Amino acid sequence: MHSQINFGYPWAFNYGHLVVAVVFLALLCLAWIRKWHKAVIVVLGLATVWASASFVMVRYGFNMNGRATMPTEAFLRLGAGKVLDMGAGTGRSTLMVLEARPQATVVALDSFGESYVEHFGDRKSGAVVDQGRARLLANLTAAGVAQRASIQPGDMRQMPLESDTFDAVVSAYAIDHLGREGIRKSLSEANRVLKPRGEFLLMVIAKDFWLEFTFGPLLMHAHKVAADFWERSLRDAGFEIVEQGMRPATKYILARKT
Ligand SMILES: C[S@@+](CC[C@H](N)C(=O)[O-])C[C@H]1O[C@@H](n2cnc3c(N)ncnc32)[C@H](O)[C@@H]1O
Repeated sequence: MHSQINFGYPWAFNYGHLVVAVVFLALLCLAWIRKWHKAVIVVLGLATVWASASFVMVRYGFNMNGRATMPTEAFLRLGAGKVLDMGAGTGRSTLMVLEARPQATVVALDSFGESYVEHFGDRKSGAVVDQGRARLLANLTAAGVAQRASIQPGDMRQMPLESDTFDAVVSAYAIDHLGREGIRKSLSEANRVLKPRGEFLLMVIAKDFWLEFTFGPLLMHAHKVAADFWERSLRDAGFEIVEQGMRPATKYILARKT
C-alpha cells in the first residue's frame, strides 16, 4: 500500500549527487590510467568522496521522498485533535501527523500556486489546484488515512479558516519560503486559527553543517536569518516557545498560543 506514495520531490534533488559522483569517479579512473598529475588525481578523489557522501546524506539522511518522522513526542501528546497543516504540498507533513497521532484529523492547506509548481509541478499540466488536490489525496489514500483529512486550497498569509478552531497547527518547510512580511502574516494567522493554548509545530530548513556540506553555494531558501529569528518571530506573533531542536537540515520549534 505504501509503495504508491509519491511525495514528488525532484529526482535531481535526491539523485543529483550520485550522477556527479559517477562522473568524478569516471574522471578519476581516466586520470589514474593515463597517469595524470598527482594533484589532479587527489582533487578528483576528494570530489568523488564528497559527491558520494553527499548522495548518501541527501538520499538517506534528508530523505525528502520518504516518510517524515515527528521531531517531538510533545506535539499533540494526547494523540487526538483537529490539526491544520500550513503548506501541505504533496502531503509529507500531513502524513507525518496522521500516522504519528492516530486519533487526529488534519486540514491540509496549500495555495497550489507558483511555489507548488516550483517544487512538485509540471507547468504544462493545467489547473495546479486540481492537480495538487489529486496528488495529495492519492498519497493520503495510499497511506490509508484519507478519511481523517480534508484538503483546503488557500494562502497561509490569509487563510479562509475561522478563528480559534484548531487544537494544533503544523508547518514544515513552507513558511520559510516566504519573505519577512509573509512570515509575519503566516505566523499571525497560525495564532489566529488556534484555540487558546493550542500548539504550533514549526519546521524550517536550517543551514546546518550537512546542508552546507551537500549543497554549499547552491543553497536554496537563501535568506539568511539571525539564529533566534524564528523564536523571536513566534513570540511576536503571540506564542511561547515550549521546545526546540535540530535534525539534519531542519530546525523545529514547538510553540504554544499564549
Ligand atoms: C517544500 S513544500 C513543503 C510541503 C510539505 N509541508 C512537506 O513537508 O513536504 C512547500 C509548500 O508550501 C506551499 N506554499 C508556499 N507558499 C504558500 C502560501 N502562501 N500559502 C499556502 N501554501 C504555500 C507550496 O505550494 C508548497 O506545496
